[in-house]
Amino acid sequence: MTADPSIAAFIRAQLPVEPVPGLPHLRLHKAGPASGVGRLGETPPYWAYWWAGGLALARYLTDTPAAVAGRRVFDLGAGSGLVGIAAARAGAVQVTASELDPNAQVAIALNAALNQVEIAPILGDRTREEPPDAEVLLVGDVFYAPDVAAKMTAFLDRCASAGITVLVGDPWRGPLPLERLELLARYDVAETGADKPAGVFRYNSAA
Ligand SMILES: C[S@@+](CC[C@H](N)C(=O)[O-])C[C@H]1O[C@@H](n2cnc3c(N)ncnc32)[C@H](O)[C@@H]1O
Repeated sequence: MTADPSIAAFIRAQLPVEPVPGLPHLRLHKAGPASGVGRLGETPPYWAYWWAGGLALARYLTDTPAAVAGRRVFDLGAGSGLVGIAAARAGAVQVTASELDPNAQVAIALNAALNQVEIAPILGDRTREEPPDAEVLLVGDVFYAPDVAAKMTAFLDRCASAGITVLVGDPWRGPLPLERLELLARYDVAETGADKPAGVFRYNSAA
């Protein structure tokens, strides 16, 4: 992708490179107290922060590389790209990262380069379309609001029904569709602002 040079320069200058909590072999640009991410616009820069669900899913992929090794994976709501980066480092043969936020796509490109992996970006709301051409769908912390969760659940139902393995990382946020989920692993992770337990789940379609 062609990164917006001014956003890329801002991220490089203002967001220090930090080791990923619990996965110090991975590194990402993350916001610190002096980063001034408010200057990036009105959309909250979710990609600039640590999220418990993504941290747990990245830990699971590192601990269980067979979940993605040799597979084509799709990281939905990729944020900083953490989950897709962990999948690539665990041996996924193709990683696509889907995001609504164009600034996140710039951060993903920078973070992928930092971690020496290739990630193909898709900008826009992919949940309105058919299931992606992937064997594994990775979903880190996208059940953070009821409207987002409803949209995600409808899409994940279609993906799971189409035979795609869907793995979710989430710290048991309120809108999480627990009735669809089977717990695979549990991690204590360091989300921005607080430590939290978070689960990694297999998502089963409603049918
Ligand atoms: C809480 S953040 C988690 C980011 C990342 N997965 C992680 O765990 O670090 C959720 C992200 O999902 C993105 N998002 C929400 N709805 C989306 C959609 N329909 N398609 C793509 N991305 C979406 C948001 O822009 C945001 O960056």
